[in-house]
Amino acid sequence: MARRLPSQPPVLPGFSYVHILGSGGFADVFLYEQNMPRRQVAVKVMLSEVVNDQVRQMFQAEANLMAQLSNHPSILTVYEASVSSDGRPYLVMELCSASLSERYRRERIPVPEVLRIAVRIGSAIETAHRSGVLHRDIKPSNILMTAYGHPVLSDFGIASTLTTQREEDSVGLSIPWSAPEVLLDETSDPIASEVWAFAATVYSLLAGRSPFEDPEGSNSSSDLMARIARAKPHPIGRDDVPASLEQLLRRGMSRRPEARPHSIIEFVRALQTIEAELGVPQTQLEIAMDEWALGTASDLEDRTRLRPIAGVSLKPAKKRRRRPVAQSAQYAGIGSVRDASPTPRRFSHTRPAAPRRRLQITTWVLIGAAALVIGFGAIALAVVLRATGADGIPVVSDIQASQTQGTIEFSWRDPGIDDGDLYQIAVGGVSSSIQEQPRFVVDADPGQTVCVTVTVNRQGKSGAPSSEKCVDVTDSR
Ligand SMILES: Nc1ncnc2c1ncn2[C@@H]1O[C@H](COP(=O)(O)OP(=O)(O)OP(=O)(O)O)[C@@H](O)[C@H]1O
Ligand SMILES: [Mg+2]
Repeated sequence: MARRLPSQPPVLPGFSYVHILGSGGFADVFLYEQNMPRRQVAVKVMLSEVVNDQVRQMFQAEANLMAQLSNHPSILTVYEASVSSDGRPYLVMELCSASLSERYRRERIPVPEVLRIAVRIGSAIETAHRSGVLHRDIKPSNILMTAYGHPVLSDFGIASTLTTQREEDSVGLSIPWSAPEVLLDETSDPIASEVWAFAATVYSLLAGRSPFEDPEGSNSSSDLMARIARAKPHPIGRDDVPASLEQLLRRGMSRRPEARPHSIIEFVRALQTIEAELGVPQTQLEIAMDEWALGTASDLEDRTRLRPIAGVSLKPAKKRRRRPVAQSAQYAGIGSVRDASPTPRRFSHTRPAAPRRRLQITTWVLIGAAALVIGFGAIALAVVLRATGADGIPVVSDIQASQTQGTIEFSWRDPGIDDGDLYQIAVGGVSSSIQEQPRFVVDADPGQTVCVTVTVNRQGKSGAPSSEKCVDVTDSR
């Protein structure tokens, strides 16, 4: 992006201008001192060239959204928004430091620190998604640090809103962190595109450059776009980055949206698993628990949203999981035994013959029924024992695989998982994903053999792994 001189800081009642903090594609950010209460604030002022009535309206709507989300501990706090006397919309925000976006290019940020930042920022994005808001511009420069050293996400939707105004102008897009389908304007699942940008951002923090940037070669917009379409990021090139993390990030940047983790929360859980693998403390998720905290569904219509967030495939609230199939079969068996147990009867001695025969018949029927029930019970028990490890955690069996045009989809039946259980997937022995869905898609090249095992993880404890399912990739392109 060509450098430009900062715009004139506007005169804002109640604020005194101090100095410029930075410039972006559509706005300048200035340090002001607020008079009451006295504190330093960052004020983001839109450039007059991009402002028109519609943009002004949209900016206001986005400011409302951001304010609504900004009580999240990892989302930048917005204090107020207005329009200056010269007609430029501005946002008054918490003063932060942009140190991270400078630091990642200069120094090797330790892996545990990157994981900690990623889990926090991922929690912020997931919270936004759950309230129907897409960020649309996830990238390192939109992660700021508070005065207390906490990473916070800024710029919800604002840049993308403006990008839409300047559709023909690729300057509006943050190309290095834009998914291939976003660059081609063929986005079908915006959550998947956010997963891509999140993966590219975490990758950048580790590699010190964006994933498709060639440290030695040319990095024009068209070079980057061509490399992003090929979806083969350069190796991170650090020996302290575990293979599982590099593989997770590559999966997040898969060309095909369906091959990526299905949601930010799934991605974040995989990051937490890597923290556990490294033996560092797991960073806690911070996701609003209750509807009131996100704004309930009923006020969605009232939301000052710029435009309907078309096609946001926000998954419906998770239904509670069924009890394990095999266990319920076992309970049914026990129930049947009780049902079949003879009810006490009184027999008259005056008419013995017929009742006795009836008694004998009844007894045989009951014995037969009991034998059948015991038989079924034994089968049910065998199913339970086969589907459950010694620790009571279900074991996945019978993994199916199907190949379509460079991807393999692995799927399996629910072995009887409980609320909160997760499937941990390892590809080629390397932990690759931790997720709720009983399916997993891998990008694969012809001639490769892809082997997958699935393990159920219950409250952080892994059960026994499934047997390995291997697929030889054929050339079906
Ligand atoms: N709340 C803040 N506190 C301190 N500095 C900030 C704050 N918000 C933004 N900045 C600084 O101002 C610069 C410009 O921010 P801005 O969001 O306009 O652009 P950007 O994120 O770099 O790029 P783009 O225009 O593509 O979003 C940032 O790079 C950052 O250094
Ligand atoms: Mg920004």
